[in-house]
Amino acid sequence: MPGAIYAEGLVKTFGDVRALDGVDIDVPEGTVLGLLGPNGAGKTTTVRVLTTLMRPDKGRAEVAGLDVLKYPNEVRRSIGLSGQFAAVDDYLTGRENLQMVGQLYQLSARDAKRRADELLERFNLAEAADRTAKTYSGGMRRRLDLAAALIISPPVMFMDEPTTGLDPMNRQALWEVIEELVASGATLLLTTQYLEEADRLADTIAVVDHGKVIARGTSDELKSQSGGDVVEVVVHDRARLAEAEEVLRRLGAGETTRVEHTRKLGVPAPGGARTLAEVIRELDALGIEMDDIGLRRPTLDDVFLSLTGHAAGADGGEDPPPGAAPDGPPDERARTRDQVRKKVSR
Ligand SMILES: Nc1ncnc2c1ncn2[C@@H]1O[C@H](COP(=O)(O)OP(=O)(O)O)[C@@H](O)[C@H]1O
Ligand SMILES: [Mg+2]
Repeated sequence: MPGAIYAEGLVKTFGDVRALDGVDIDVPEGTVLGLLGPNGAGKTTTVRVLTTLMRPDKGRAEVAGLDVLKYPNEVRRSIGLSGQFAAVDDYLTGRENLQMVGQLYQLSARDAKRRADELLERFNLAEAADRTAKTYSGGMRRRLDLAAALIISPPVMFMDEPTTGLDPMNRQALWEVIEELVASGATLLLTTQYLEEADRLADTIAVVDHGKVIARGTSDELKSQSGGDVVEVVVHDRARLAEAEEVLRRLGAGETTRVEHTRKLGVPAPGGARTLAEVIRELDALGIEMDDIGLRRPTLDDVFLSLTGHAAGADGGEDPPPGAAPDGPPDERARTRDQVRKKVSR
């Protein structure tokens, strides 16, 4: 049975750019998928298709058991969306922003207000609730955006780079909120350029590059695909480098690496700490002095590098500044804003 979020063979082109080139995704209910990839990989386009904001050229998708092309309205009612293109309106206050979203989801004015107050409190925005969003800092804006996505406690959530551009403290705070949300049973698709974020929040990770999923698995699976632990040693005396390398070759598994000028050697060590201990004993017994020795665990950065040949996020591109024009028809947004103003001021 397909998961709470499911996509098969999604293709989307813009002119000669193949933004999605056959994306498949399956996210079991109650789990978190981290869609990890550099700028331009196709993350936002994937989220747009899954959240009914854009039609794919090919492929199909289901969210909460509903076909996104056949039942877009029903899908919208079962999801929350937060991210780069989401719903913060600069000219409304924090409170009005949340009430507007509540009304878009057809909550009664009273319920929308109650829920807005709850969330403002929850996200530490109560004090700023009656200031226009224009005056908010980047961190406050993100929190408001996330609050907006949570208005109806949706069973399926999409977050497009929720912490991009946040300082470490705000990032940490958001991670905690996201973890609570997931603990309460929601299914979440999160896009990120940050390996650390995927590592911490995602049950499974799909690495995307040039519109394709090029690897998937848990963080540990991806790391072990890229070769597992490595013993690294810095030999004190360059004259003994070759001898030490011989020891590593014998005790490790696979090709050794050797950097002459730093006197650094490395070898894959699936035996982990045990192999490290053996190497230390052996080098000691031979009287080979070490300046440094240790076990290095591969990071998701290593994984990304080995999969794509470039570092995550390295190929540039700026995020739109906070408050950059959101996508979606501007007049529709303005119209909704006016309606909310009327209702709120009544
Ligand atoms: N509306 C659009 N018009 C033209 N090209 C687009 C549009 N949206 C995205 N693209 C292009 O599609 C590719 C994937 O973009 P996107 O999904 O935004 O990537 P990501 O979110 O991973 O940074 C990029 O090359 C981007 O320039
Ligand atoms: Mg994006």
